[in-house]
Amino acid sequence: MRAHKASSSHFGWARCLAMIFATLALMLGGSGAQAQTKAPAKVKAMAKAPYDAAACYECHEDVKAFHVGGDHKTVGCDSCHGGLDTHKPKGKGRPSTSTDPATCGECHQNQYRTLYNMNMDKTAHKEKAVATFGAFDKLLMPHGFTREHNEPRSHAFALYDQVVVDRAFGGRFQNKDGKSGLTRMGGNFKIWDVLVDEFPGEPHKAFKPGTAAAANPVCMSCKSADHILDWAYMGDPAPSAKWSRLSKVNEFVKDTNHSLNCIFCHDPHATKPRVIRDGLIQALTRPEKDTLWHKDPKGAKIEVKDLGERGFTRKIALLSRYDVKLQCAQCHVEYNCNPGTDPTTGAAITMADQRTNHFPLKAVDDIGQHYKDLKFGDFKHAVTGATLWKGQHADTETYYGSTHQKEGVECSGCHMPKMKDPKTGKTYTSHWQTSPRHYIKETCLTCHKTWTEQQAVYTIDSLKNKWVGKMRKAEFWLTRLIDKYEAAQNMGVGAAVLAEARTKHSEAHVHWEWWSATNGAHFHNPQQFEASINKGMGISQAGVKLLDDAMAKRRAAAPAAAASAATGAAPAVRGTPVAQLAK
Ligand code: HEC
Ligand code: HEC
Ligand code: HEC
Ligand code: HEC
Ligand code: HEC
Ligand code: HEC
Ligand code: HEC
Repeated sequence: MRAHKASSSHFGWARCLAMIFATLALMLGGSGAQAQTKAPAKVKAMAKAPYDAAACYECHEDVKAFHVGGDHKTVGCDSCHGGLDTHKPKGKGRPSTSTDPATCGECHQNQYRTLYNMNMDKTAHKEKAVATFGAFDKLLMPHGFTREHNEPRSHAFALYDQVVVDRAFGGRFQNKDGKSGLTRMGGNFKIWDVLVDEFPGEPHKAFKPGTAAAANPVCMSCKSADHILDWAYMGDPAPSAKWSRLSKVNEFVKDTNHSLNCIFCHDPHATKPRVIRDGLIQALTRPEKDTLWHKDPKGAKIEVKDLGERGFTRKIALLSRYDVKLQCAQCHVEYNCNPGTDPTTGAAITMADQRTNHFPLKAVDDIGQHYKDLKFGDFKHAVTGATLWKGQHADTETYYGSTHQKEGVECSGCHMPKMKDPKTGKTYTSHWQTSPRHYIKETCLTCHKTWTEQQAVYTIDSLKNKWVGKMRKAEFWLTRLIDKYEAAQNMGVGAAVLAEARTKHSEAHVHWEWWSATNGAHFHNPQQFEASINKGMGISQAGVKLLDDAMAKRRAAAPAAAASAATGAAPAVRGTPVAQLAK
């Protein structure tokens, strides 16, 4: 890497080569062979003067402040921007900006190559519902996630999977190679080289049975940053910003191509660690100062910058150090990215409302209250009518407060090990964020020095056993609560008891849904998992008892009522005033 310091001007050549390589990789991928992205071998530096950015700085002071003091000071503006010859003299026209990770990969080959590695143990289409033996669909009825809700697989597919999943675009987008497309082995590919729109010109809707059209522009923001310069802060509509929360998502998605761009975590000018996800930046700067980061005494300091050259504000937050939790928290968190209902008024909350791009960044015990205060409800359960929360992978929140987090271990300690480049012998950070099972020696064993690899894996599996068992038990009690509710309602149990049972359903649901949606929780924070799942089961059981008692009361009252009905004296059971039946 150091060699680049001397001359940063040969990168146009390198870029050309990169494109040839990328095209080759794609062609191979198309025929079903391995398409692991390879950055090109570095070409020899050409003797050329370093890029003179003095003129740019006259108009772009923010960038100057970032660029001249950073590690990229020798990297020319033209490494990542195009159309500068016409723009430079008078600032006319809009230069192009590459958000393609391959651009960074020209000079940072190891990081680039590893980021799009493939985890062969995680196949596509692995429904989370499979393990719950049908309970999942009953618990989330009629939410869109019941159409397809898969376990996560490699980062290479983050954007692609969101576009093809049954619940998102109604079956509109299909792989050009049909089911053979499943043979793609990772790599940094452009999704529109691979996908086809089967219903061009049609509005966003469910086209095929078993699908839903639940995608919107906000949910694409945790897959790709390709729209970074066309998106105002929070996705608020702005005349000069091409896209917003309200954009037609089937059109918007065609303007994205890459998964997990490097610029999510690294500022391209300052090279400092950063976060760009607007919902997260809003949470970190909320006046309430109530997130898990605010409560973390060791959390990195943030410096929020308002940027934007074209008439609207976008924000980035530079970090004082790699507080990796925050970087992963751009996506691996609970966030709300969909429309809903105000539970206090019943009014619809549409994508025009900023609450459809919202990060709580709170612990499981506080999430119910958080959404109550926000006045946001996700959906109503099909059987009980309880307002329920649909959680998203609260991986980071669950990690906060764990044994490892308190010991200062970062996500990267187990998911981004230090590796040696076999050719140069230099150390680099692997960007293959996957299960630590793939590199136990470089992660767990660097700290747990007396363990063998087997012992570490044995520990992970044992913790998983506990998680699986408790999850299935919680599902038993939660589904029993729903079934009892249905029975009680059919029997004519009073409205007050049913209302109380619905509250219990909402509360108990949180303590199952959190763990159902969260990844790696069995290992990340076993103590918090056990406390919460047991709490939820207790609430389900109390709800079941409430309904059982009310039904027993009715059964006891029924023969007496029937007897008196025969003499024509007392009112029929169905007509019994609610207050008399409520306990
Ligand atoms: C005379 C002032 C001026 C100079 C000199 C100038 N720019 Fe700009 N630049 C602007 C303005 C104004 C805009 C906003 C254009 C628009 O509204 O589309 C802009 C936009 C940009 C953008 C696009 C931002 C976006 O949101 O897409 C980039 C990238 C950029 N400039 C880079 C450069 C580089 C690199 C140089 C030097 C080679 C440079 N500029 C020189 C004034 C200038
Ligand atoms: C390593 C790649 C890279 C280099 C080198 C680079 N840029 Fe950028 N630039 C980007 C990316 C990516 C963005 C998109 C915004 C972001 O990521 O924050 C951007 C955005 C911009 C913008 C728009 C900023 C805004 O406020 O919206 C300007 C202006 C700009 N660059 C100017 C420059 C100038 C001037 C130079 C040279 C001194 C330069 N860039 C060098 C990658 C680069
Ligand atoms: C033209 C070559 C080139 C390109 C393109 C390039 N970089 Fe760099 N980068 C360098 C050089 C040279 C350094 C400073 C030497 C070093 O640390 O390796 C550097 C340093 C960095 C660092 C700091 C490294 C450290 O040790 O802390 C980060 C982070 C970084 N680059 C990220 C990126 C990202 C993200 C992109 C794409 C947006 C990118 N780079 C594009 C050449 C490049
Ligand atoms: C999800 C966040 C994230 C993304 C996305 C990401 N990085 Fe990193 N990057 C990190 C972290 C964390 C480190 C390690 C920091 C440390 O341990 O000091 C790092 C380190 C680096 C370094 C410093 C040298 C090293 O290996 O430690 C470079 C250069 C770099 N990344 C380049 C890239 C490039 C190029 C991409 C895209 C292909 C990329 N990163 C994508 C988080 C990220
Ligand atoms: C821009 C959003 C984003 C960021 C930032 C991000 N991830 Fe992910 N991650 C995802 C998505 C989406 C998936 C699931 C992809 C799929 O199934 O197609 C995923 C999958 C994973 C997986 C499963 C991969 C496997 O091999 O099974 C791990 C582990 C992971 N991420 C860890 C991390 C860590 C650690 C960080 C921070 C260093 C991080 N991620 C940053 C979005 C992100
Ligand atoms: C950066 C250092 C570091 C890494 C990497 C690390 N650990 Fe730990 N681990 C610790 C420390 C420190 C503790 C607390 C003291 C102790 O129990 O040994 C701990 C505790 C534990 C515990 C007990 C947790 C509890 O809540 O009681 C388990 C189990 C464990 N580690 C397993 C692993 C496994 C498996 C890996 C790899 C996936 C791993 N650790 C990676 C440092 C680390
Ligand atoms: C001490 C080690 C350790 C730390 C620190 C750690 N993880 Fe994990 N993570 C694991 C282990 C072990 C698993 C379980 C993997 C398995 O069972 O195959 C896991 C699983 C995951 C998964 C699910 C992967 C899958 O295959 O389903 C994601 C996503 C994830 N971690 C993200 C994170 C994020 C984000 C952070 C930081 C907020 C983090 N991890 C911190 C060890 C760690």
